[in-house]
Amino acid sequence: MAETLHITAGAPKEERYRELIPQIESLIAGEDDMIANLANVAAALAQAFGHLWTGFYLSRGDRLVLGPFQGPVACTSIALLPVARGVCGAAWARKETVIVPDVEKFPGHIACSSLSRSEIVVPLVHDGVVRMVLDVDSAAYDMFDDADARGLEAVMDLIRRRHYAGSAA
Ligand code: SME
Repeated sequence: MAETLHITAGAPKEERYRELIPQIESLIAGEDDMIANLANVAAALAQAFGHLWTGFYLSRGDRLVLGPFQGPVACTSIALLPVARGVCGAAWARKETVIVPDVEKFPGHIACSSLSRSEIVVPLVHDGVVRMVLDVDSAAYDMFDDADARGLEAVMDLIRRRHYAGSAA
């Protein structure tokens, strides 16, 4: 497996996702350990897009627990009960991607970093259960759109097929 990523710097983000997705697929193909793969996916996304924070929160009972990430230190645990907290909790509860153009206007947003201005959270749903979420934060307002939703959902589908589909996990 090649450990070098090839992304065209300055290319439109749709093109960077197009370049990135097959490379992520081969990056995770040869490794069965999900944490190792999530670590490399977070690194690949951070390398391709350079956002403030890129990482995973894993479903662990009544909370989301910090997984592999790139960026400043972050909250280790997000409560899901009695109400799901933050943007991550909203994506977990809705089982769909949540885009927040201005985090200050999102009630309950959890400010892990005071530099964060906009955010996208994409859940991985398998057998109707959210197994993890991917959270990407930007220091700029209104950074994320449908292209990010489609690109990051494709990345989560690669992880789902690699680590959940065809297994009881
Ligand atoms: N802002 C997130 C919490 C995670 S950190 O941003 C890394 C939220 O509101 O769920």
